Amino acid sequence: METRKVAVIGLGHVGAQTAYTLAVQGTAEELILVDQNEEKVTAQQRDLEDAAAFLPHRVRITVGKAADLGPCDVIINSVGDISLTHQSRDRAVESRFTSPAVKAIAAEIRETGFDGVLLNITNPCDLITWQLIRELDLPRGRVFGTGVGLDTARLTAGLSRRTGLSHSSVTAYMLGEHGKAQFAPWSCVRFGGKSLDDWAETESRFRFNRDKAEREAVDAAWVTMAGKGCTEYGIAATAARMVAAVLRDEKVILPVSCALCGEYGERDVVAGVPAVIGRDGAEQVVELPLTDGEKARFRACCGEIRQSMSGLNM
Ligand SMILES: NC(=O)c1ccc[n+]([C@@H]2O[C@H](COP(=O)([O-])OP(=O)(O)OC[C@H]3O[C@@H](n4cnc5c(N)ncnc54)[C@H](O)[C@@H]3O)[C@@H](O)[C@H]2O)c1
Repeated sequence: METRKVAVIGLGHVGAQTAYTLAVQGTAEELILVDQNEEKVTAQQRDLEDAAAFLPHRVRITVGKAADLGPCDVIINSVGDISLTHQSRDRAVESRFTSPAVKAIAAEIRETGFDGVLLNITNPCDLITWQLIRELDLPRGRVFGTGVGLDTARLTAGLSRRTGLSHSSVTAYMLGEHGKAQFAPWSCVRFGGKSLDDWAETESRFRFNRDKAEREAVDAAWVTMAGKGCTEYGIAATAARMVAAVLRDEKVILPVSCALCGEYGERDVVAGVPAVIGRDGAEQVVELPLTDGEKARFRACCGEIRQSMSGLNM
């Protein structure tokens, strides 16, 4: 019998909630928590262990160091400093802290011979994912980011609210940057296999303001941030879904942030796209049949991401 081991690095709002979600869902038998703040990570471990006493399955939760993570199946990176997000919406501000922090962590992980899957949450998500891909040098797809995964959940929730249909009947994606340039390719939206345009021809509830729905998905993080000072449940559920897809080798298509090697006409860049998620991470990028206008918006996103990459000398 195999023990599925998952590590979470950075036990702040996001990392702690992700660990809790994984524990409650019984996704892994062993969770290893890593944080530079020893008092905080010990407290998170104890709190999670208290919760685990009431779970119907066994989960072992320990505190560790990056150097211990070689045998993990999945490592989740969620290091950060939330005070920077409170200071500015400009992701470049956060990257000045997260990029060097992640570089040091990646060097330690590389030393361990880790050859599992690394899921990055830390922002700017596309940039930091790219940095981890470069630093870890694992086979293609093994490092990917939550990227547009959470943004897509927000879009889908909005579409469900507007149409009254369950989110599970909606196929829709936010694409491109996990940031302000991301967009919804409306030509690819389906409800039960029928296109949004076809539904809109006959039913008024499908004739909503598309720009507004897209804007709501982009701005949702800031609404949550303004009201409660952090975002946690949505991103934790997004990350836990991706980890489960890897551990169960599900081959499910999920929107993520991953490296492009010619798909959508782009290479040497990480961007938000749907991909097949399985044991080897983001195993295949799914190329959607975008309209010319949507292709132009995707190119613009990649341009934004490249510009930020050059700002970090990556
Ligand atoms: N991708 C997404 O959709 C998404 C959504 C929400 C938050 N985030 C990002 O997740 C990150 C974490 O957010 P948060 O709200 O949990 O922040 P937080 O400040 O609450 O927690 C960050 C944790 O990281 C730890 N840490 C910092 N540097 C470290 C290092 N070098 N080694 C080990 N631990 C380290 C801190 O001690 C802290 O416990 C941020 O970058 C945030 O922007 C991403």
